[in-house]
Amino acid sequence: MKRFASFIVPVLGLIALVGFVLFSYLGIRRDEKALLDDLNRRARVIAQSLTSPALKALRKPPTPDEEDVAERLSAHGRTLGILLCGPDGNVVARSAALADLLGCSDVADAAAGEEITETEVRNGISLHRLTVPLKNASGETEGTLTVVHDTAFIQARVRDAAVWTAVMLALFALLMSAMTYALSRRSFQKSVGDVLKWMKASKEAPPQQPPRNPLLAPVAREVQKMAVKLQSVRETARELSQASQVSELWNSARLKAHAFTHFGNRTLMVVSNREPYMHVRDHSRRRVMVPASGLVTALDPILRSTAGLWIAHGAGDADREVVDRDGKVLVPPERPSYTLKRVWLTKEEEDRYYYGFSNEALWPLCHLTHHRPIFDEADWKTYEAVNEKFAGAVLAECGSERPFVLVQDYHFTRLPRLIRRERPDAVIGLFWHIPWPTPEAFQICPWKSEILEGMLGANFVGFHLPSYVHNFLNTVNAVLPVRVDWDRSAVLHPNGTTFVKPFPISIQPWSERGDALPSDFDAKAKEIRHEWELGDAIVVASVDRLDYTKGIPERLEAISLFFERNPQFAGKVVFVQLGAPSRVHIPKYRDLVTEIERKTDEVNWKWGTETWKPVLLLKAHHDPATVYTFLRMADACIVSSLADGMNLVAKEYVSSREEGGGALILSEFAGAAREFADALLINPYDRSQFAEAIRTALEMPPEEQRRRMQRLRAQVAEKNVYRWAADLLTEMSRSAELSDYQKNAEPGSTQATS
Ligand code: G6P
Repeated sequence: MKRFASFIVPVLGLIALVGFVLFSYLGIRRDEKALLDDLNRRARVIAQSLTSPALKALRKPPTPDEEDVAERLSAHGRTLGILLCGPDGNVVARSAALADLLGCSDVADAAAGEEITETEVRNGISLHRLTVPLKNASGETEGTLTVVHDTAFIQARVRDAAVWTAVMLALFALLMSAMTYALSRRSFQKSVGDVLKWMKASKEAPPQQPPRNPLLAPVAREVQKMAVKLQSVRETARELSQASQVSELWNSARLKAHAFTHFGNRTLMVVSNREPYMHVRDHSRRRVMVPASGLVTALDPILRSTAGLWIAHGAGDADREVVDRDGKVLVPPERPSYTLKRVWLTKEEEDRYYYGFSNEALWPLCHLTHHRPIFDEADWKTYEAVNEKFAGAVLAECGSERPFVLVQDYHFTRLPRLIRRERPDAVIGLFWHIPWPTPEAFQICPWKSEILEGMLGANFVGFHLPSYVHNFLNTVNAVLPVRVDWDRSAVLHPNGTTFVKPFPISIQPWSERGDALPSDFDAKAKEIRHEWELGDAIVVASVDRLDYTKGIPERLEAISLFFERNPQFAGKVVFVQLGAPSRVHIPKYRDLVTEIERKTDEVNWKWGTETWKPVLLLKAHHDPATVYTFLRMADACIVSSLADGMNLVAKEYVSSREEGGGALILSEFAGAAREFADALLINPYDRSQFAEAIRTALEMPPEEQRRRMQRLRAQVAEKNVYRWAADLLTEMSRSAELSDYQKNAEPGSTQATS
């Protein structure tokens, strides 16, 4: 009925509109004619009343001293004047107003005995003239009398009527448009609503018949086809997942299948401070940058596989230019596969929450590298406020279904609790990418309880290593009045249970990163050697953010010692440092860059020659293709972190060694050291041992290099990031089941306290 109304109302409106225009036009014409008739009548009455004096005047024309008969008529309303013409066409009498306007030769010849009406525009005046013959008693015509009127008032009336009609017309059209718009919008909304409801239902179950709607039928048909395909892909994926559980390595397809099995079509939401793609202004051009972050390296392939939603701080200076109204943009730009939702922060928020509390308090607190944390109350307050802001962004994305949220890292310790407060049903995981210190070290934080309580809002908390899990449970045990279940590695608290587990993170093998690799590795390697004048030198590569936890000054000291003890390598080896500037507004980071530059200069000055520089420092954000090429062409790679949650560069180096060979020198303080027994482990603080490890790496027989690298590569291939993600997703769905179980067992037990 509504659809019929939305059709019939505009049609009726159109008919009414045409009718209105027609009637208005005819009405105006009728009025104009009536006014003219009226004028005619008036002129005729005047002419009749003047016939006798006019005849007298014809017989005895007035002398200039006598009263002008013509002027007697000036008082007649809209009458302009009269003109009295003699039988010879001579002017006998004429009103002054007509003096320059009309002569006897201009008026129609009424001598034939008939009155004549004329209208014309003369000297810009619209004139109406009635000319009557003046007859004597015997019926002979002695002259003519012309009564002249100004018809401007008729035109003015017609114009007014036309304007009024136009205004009414416009109002009417406006009203009709508004009604038509409102009706069609309602009807369209309903149609779209029906189709949407049907589409949502088709996501879960086999697609039903689409709603019958002629307007959207073609769209519905296409969607139905897609839904059918999706259904079959899901089936295939499930089968594939089951079949490959036994021996296959984890890859994107298998993760996809795994995610389907556990989540169906529900969206996995990931929250982190750092966004995976930044849009930045490069002079007048806009370009996309992949930030240097282990977190980004690990999570991007997972989001691509699961088509999830990533919520992060929009930190690029051109980020706002590409998002929609909700701050969303599809990424990666070259092959959109998931949604990035950007959250905007003010400068002060960034300053206090990111640079301040996250990176001047928590970062040094968790990385024991002898840098004193700065605890500032205003930083903490802003940190809490930004966590609230992100909670708002997450909650805005939660529909009626149970949300699955994976929070990342130390920037969001309060977030799990904030989400839980609003959505007790949510399944929340928190993954901590950096080390967790001992309880003694952590307890110096003035807001230790608030941080831990916030984290326990999650169903599970993941760390890279069992030792971090152990430290965390000990810290919770020491700080909060909760019970730690050591056997199940869980914390039991008033709001439920939080499981704490190690999930050593990994990388997406380079072999799966088709779009990020150079199309021709040999050509790219040649180009790089040429550009940086590396000739055929042995390359030892390091790739780091310029961060004081990475042990870069210690590395430069060890390099210097290495040349001192092994002069046979002079001129033959180049240590390439790819260094991405990081957190540049923090004084400690700026000082570090100065120190690295100074130490690089010192080594180059002390050991270099005119044709050879032992250290090449390339300070920039390098794209993945450049990083890959340097790693693959490097005969050795050094990772010398003083403290590091995992360090994915170590794994990227191993993954890049397609031809086998190469040696990895790895700090025993990087999480990766727990997995990589075949690396040359070093204590970066021990310069002598470090320098010796460099020599060992460069002198290692190729056969041994290959053997070690083979084992390392097998490890990275098997425990790749897809497997890490699969373990996390399994933990998420286990948590969901567990919280359902708890809810059923003791109703209200999962309700969060405010
Ligand atoms: C570490 C942290 C990440 C962070 C990355 C880069 O890996 O665990 O959360 O993204 O450093 O640091 P940035 O401050 O540039 O994000």
